[in-house]
Amino acid sequence: MKTISTAADMQQTVLALRAQGKRIGFVPTMGNLHEGHLSLIRIAREQADVVIVSLFVNPMQFGPNEDFDAYPRTFERDRALCEETGADLLFHPALEDIYPEGASVSVTESALSRTLCGAARPGHFDGVCTVVAKLFNIVLPHFAVFGAKDAQQLRVIRRMVRDLRFPVEIVAGPTVREPDGLALSSRNQYLTAEQRPQATCLRRALDEAERLFAAGERNPDAITVAMRKLIESEPDAKIDYVSIVDDETLQPLDGPITAPVLIALAVRVGSPRLIDNTPLRP
Ligand code: PAJ
Repeated sequence: MKTISTAADMQQTVLALRAQGKRIGFVPTMGNLHEGHLSLIRIAREQADVVIVSLFVNPMQFGPNEDFDAYPRTFERDRALCEETGADLLFHPALEDIYPEGASVSVTESALSRTLCGAARPGHFDGVCTVVAKLFNIVLPHFAVFGAKDAQQLRVIRRMVRDLRFPVEIVAGPTVREPDGLALSSRNQYLTAEQRPQATCLRRALDEAERLFAAGERNPDAITVAMRKLIESEPDAKIDYVSIVDDETLQPLDGPITAPVLIALAVRVGSPRLIDNTPLRP
């Protein structure tokens, strides 16, 4: 596996590969890799001739109260994991290469970003769209793999690709979980021994929602009330949101569930803010 550290080198390398007819698969990450990220690399490996992984902690998607400087940077470990998992090229650019001095053009998404996590994190998804657009233009992939765990991010990226006509296919990878159901996240390492078992309340609340739905419940409020009750019984859990939204628009429902929905939640367990989701199809 080769590491490439400038955008110019990456573009040249990939143009040469494309000229040879190679199919390029891309997995963008911010590093500090875990089995969730590695599962996306494996999905790319199955469908690509050349798998490219990027490691770049993107300042534009961090809010003023979110600690960009404290985001864990574990380059040597990440590099070894990418190599073991079958990546061919690692793209590890410097900040100035992605955000050159005086950069004044960015991507704005103005509908899907307003709800769920976007409501509490203004500008976050514009930061994600902007960096992913830049990465697509540098890596020039045929397809890119994103995790279903970040359901809103996945939908925002699909929208950007549709609206800006990026010639990139977006592939979704299923959420990878601990055996007890907790979705893997780099934030899980900040849970204390007392908080760790409580953190399964996100998945348990989604299980309860699925159970109620299977039993015929179609009232979104009845489902979210049951989910909230389950989460609130954990002493260290503080709900940010528990929402049932239209899977297409991400807007809250104004009546019973009759079309595909996304159930999404964000819960602080101690200090880490955890997210999870499940789609439901009537
Ligand atoms: P990061 O948080 O590093 O995540 C990189 C990719 O891994 C995302 O597509 C995310 O959905 C996926 N992922 C994380 N946890 C997962 C899990 N438990 N199961 C499956 N996939 C999982 O998301 C970002 O970085 C950034 O916003 C990025 C897209 C790289 C733009 O900066």
